Amino acid sequence: MHDSLLLDQSREILLLVDPATLAICEVSKPGLRQLGYTLEDLLGRPITDIECALSDLFFWDEVRQGGNANITDTECSYLCSNGQILLASKTVLRVEKDGTSWLVIRAEPLEPRQQAESELASISSRLQATLEATAEGILLLDREGNILNMNQCFSRMWGIPDELLARRVDAEAFAFMASFFADQEAYQRNLAAIHLDSDLESFDTLELTDGRIFERRSRPARHAEQIIGRVFSFSDATERKAIEQQLLNQNARLEEVVQQRTAALSQQLAALTESNRKLEEAQFQLLQSEKLASIGQLAAGVAHEINNPIGFINSNLGTLGDYVESLLAIDAAYAQAQHALDPSVQLAFEPVSALKTSLDYAFMVDDLRQLIKESRDGLERVKTIVRDLKDFARVGSAEWAWADIHQGLESTLNIVWNELKYKATVEREYGTLPRVHCIPSQLNQVFMNLLVNAAHAIEGQGVIRVRTGCNDKQVWVEVIDTGIGIPPKNINRIFDPFFTTKALGKGTGLGLSLAWGIVQRHRGSIEVQSEPGKGTTFKVLLPIGGEPAEAPPSSQ
Ligand SMILES: Nc1ncnc2c1ncn2[C@@H]1O[C@H](COP(=O)(O)OP(=O)(O)OP(=O)(O)O)[C@@H](O)[C@H]1O
Ligand SMILES: [Mg+2]
Repeated sequence: MHDSLLLDQSREILLLVDPATLAICEVSKPGLRQLGYTLEDLLGRPITDIECALSDLFFWDEVRQGGNANITDTECSYLCSNGQILLASKTVLRVEKDGTSWLVIRAEPLEPRQQAESELASISSRLQATLEATAEGILLLDREGNILNMNQCFSRMWGIPDELLARRVDAEAFAFMASFFADQEAYQRNLAAIHLDSDLESFDTLELTDGRIFERRSRPARHAEQIIGRVFSFSDATERKAIEQQLLNQNARLEEVVQQRTAALSQQLAALTESNRKLEEAQFQLLQSEKLASIGQLAAGVAHEINNPIGFINSNLGTLGDYVESLLAIDAAYAQAQHALDPSVQLAFEPVSALKTSLDYAFMVDDLRQLIKESRDGLERVKTIVRDLKDFARVGSAEWAWADIHQGLESTLNIVWNELKYKATVEREYGTLPRVHCIPSQLNQVFMNLLVNAAHAIEGQGVIRVRTGCNDKQVWVEVIDTGIGIPPKNINRIFDPFFTTKALGKGTGLGLSLAWGIVQRHRGSIEVQSEPGKGTTFKVLLPIGGEPAEAPPSSQ
């Protein structure tokens, strides 16, 4: 009786459990009070319905399987009828009565302070477990820089020896970490730059003397809006950086290879373009030189054929002039003799005098001389044309020679005179030029193209000025017209083969490209300046001693 009174007044929760089924068979009154159940609530229910923490479940499972049930003062938790958890310290005993074995649970509820401590410890252990579960090294400092916490990953990363950790002297731990840096001062400065009470997050990369690379992030640790310290997390980026570096290197190598290939390709392309250009040039040259050669041959042939008859016409004309003078002298002598004759005899000459009068003998005598003179002049002109033709074509002399540029210009002007005369007056402003080493017939072709282009550019009437000049290295020839000019959009294309703005059939667009090629072969250049509506200037510059270099002949 007294026993049960004592037991009822104690705080202890007593439970009797069947070890085979884990069913609750008896509960002490204080037990029912503390847990908030009635006896009926609990009788027959498995103990795991109310001891339901994970560790309790493991324990009871072991007991059911016949494991050792005896434990002393072990923390456990009970699920109360109101849903709250009651922490207690329990002892389990196996007792035998009448051949049956029972389990007696004696559980002493923890004091509220103990409960709070236990809860705190559990939170802290959960936190620590979380900390340990991260793959990063975590270090927590307070606002004064004292170490509050760190995880094992942190001490492993830095290789902090156990005895140093055990001593818990922060300065030693920091010094140990600093020893990983070549420039310790820089490291300290860098560390000092992270203010422990700062609101900001930080990130930096640390290069350790052992070759590892750590990435360090830090952020403020707060409690109730107050910064209480700073959390540092360290991750080992060595491998990632190495892979990144490898990738960068590979990328750079790839880029290099691509660049090399591209360079090789563009070189090939340039070579192809160049050889294509040369081929085109050669083709045009061929075309033009064929044209030139046939014009030249024709001109030379015509000149040659005309030259022979002109030779004998000239000589005959000379003789004819002499004969005419002689005949006129004889006739004058006859007239003189007639006056000395007897008048009756003179009558016989009257029909002669009448004939002379009717035929206007006096005029005939005058005109005869005039005619012969004019014929001679005409013949001279034919001779000049023939000479110009020959000069212009210079057949058989597509060779380098020391030539007079003015002579070439003059013969070319004569050849193209028909094209120019109705369009323009030609003004010459010739300087004094030395002889130039060149292929004269080809230069004449250049001048011809420039002069014809100038004439074509003039609408109505205009002026073509031909200027020349030189310095000690080169001579220049300018063909200036007052024509329509070249629009800026065309200026870069006029030397392109087949570029023409002329009507179909009027221009082939080869004139300037040919001129360009010829001047290039002479190692010279062509410059062009044009103002639409005003006119155009083409300037040909030629080295005096062009290829192949030879001494100029002493006599002309
Ligand atoms: N003096 C100039 N004034 C204005 N335009 C010019 C002049 N010279 C050349 N050009 C322009 O340059 C183009 C090319 O000239 P290029 O001499 O090469 O060919 P083309 O005269 O058209 O034909 P062709 O093959 O018969 O000479 C001309 O069609 C013309 O548009
Ligand atoms: Mg032309």
